[in-house]
Amino acid sequence: MAQNWTPDGWKAFEAKHLPSYIDAAALEAAENTLSSYPPLVFAGEARALQAELAEVCAGRGFLLQGGDCAESFAEFHPNNIRDTFRVLLQMAVVLTFASKQPVVKVGRMAGQFAKPRSAPTETQGSTELPSYLGDIINGIEFDEGARVNDPQRMIRAYSQAAATLNLLRAFATGGYANLRQVHQWTLDFMGRSPWAGRFSDIADRIGEALDFMAACGIDPGSVPQLQGTSFYTSHEALLLQYEQALTRQDSLTGDWYDTSAHMLWIGDRTRFDGSAHVEFLRGVDNPIGMKCGPSLEPDALLRMLDTLNPGRIPGRMTLISRFGHDKVEAGLPRLVRAVQREGHPVVWSCDPMHGNVIKSDSGYKTRPFDRILTEVKGFFAVHRAEGTHAGGIHIEMTGQDVTECVGGAVAITDDALGDRYHTHCDPRLNAAQSLELAFLLAEMLNLEAAQRPAHAA
Ligand code: TRP
Ligand code: MN
Repeated sequence: MAQNWTPDGWKAFEAKHLPSYIDAAALEAAENTLSSYPPLVFAGEARALQAELAEVCAGRGFLLQGGDCAESFAEFHPNNIRDTFRVLLQMAVVLTFASKQPVVKVGRMAGQFAKPRSAPTETQGSTELPSYLGDIINGIEFDEGARVNDPQRMIRAYSQAAATLNLLRAFATGGYANLRQVHQWTLDFMGRSPWAGRFSDIADRIGEALDFMAACGIDPGSVPQLQGTSFYTSHEALLLQYEQALTRQDSLTGDWYDTSAHMLWIGDRTRFDGSAHVEFLRGVDNPIGMKCGPSLEPDALLRMLDTLNPGRIPGRMTLISRFGHDKVEAGLPRLVRAVQREGHPVVWSCDPMHGNVIKSDSGYKTRPFDRILTEVKGFFAVHRAEGTHAGGIHIEMTGQDVTECVGGAVAITDDALGDRYHTHCDPRLNAAQSLELAFLLAEMLNLEAAQRPAHAA
């Protein structure tokens, strides 16, 4: 257990990107309500995830983490949850097959509401209003009333997270995640897509593997492992008022867990010495992610690891690099080397989204698919050169057919961005782009798998 730590101890530290609420009594009432509500996840589940991540740490697995940039109240619909879940599973099948390793599936879902913004205010015409901070804090509409921080929104976010998690659990274990079924969706999808040819070989081989196993008597009907899967939730632990209210002492071990999600991460803008967010996260025993961008120096990274994982527990820390397509190969190696030298166990994951945002000619914030892919390739190249395990991917995606990122085999052009641009924050990969990325990743993972000694544990 962390030394000298209490759930509200973060209040004595420097908090960046935390909203202020004008009505202190209303904030306290909302916090008390949340504190009395049931935990969203159970500590034992967070430990199970940590054990799976420990395997990834040891080079025996791959982490797939994905979902919305920002969840919203307006887009809360069972079909959206279902479609994002389905695409993540389709990706997972392809990645499992290519890497010959288990894939740990984690959604940016059921709690990914709060957003750190680069500017505190937004100006349209001659009107200046506070920036939108995510549906858990204020409203996206550009009017004065909507932009007031409202603590009641935390209660609504909790309810939405609870309902989302309930559906995800049902899907994961109730038959929807049946391996044969998930692969059939991929085949159906590929049947409709112009780029199918390039990847049909992998898809056919997966189908053959399933047929072969079925002939041997191993199919979803006889083997529960093929019938369902484990699926975990995660979000950026930004709104500490919400996170604290959902932090509970595990009745089995006495340890503290933030029960708002299985895994929490700390953003690139809130990881600094003396940060309230670091102080909060060091005391909860969930698996923790940390975004690592170009401004992070190796020494600062090592101090963070010593603070957040003094016991050097494998699976506790996932480092999510987000350098940008043209900076990853120059910037990442020094971090990898520092961590290797100190012997800190970490999962290295790649966020190819956040370093690759551009403003398109048509005025939309977008991310070119080829830059996303270039960053992923650079990430793999660095780990190959350093002899470390490229352990995961962290993406902003949706199961919907949106037009937010340009490129991909179905070539979304700059002009088409306006067609279906729905994100509440950053541009997301759509279903086709996500699946295409999985197939391209598969080619890289295949190489890694081929270099492992046969039957290595
Ligand atoms: N249970 C295994 C796993 O989660 C196999 C599996 C079943 C699976 N359904 C799946 C894998 C859906 C990926 C996607 O790895
Ligand atoms: Mn984002």
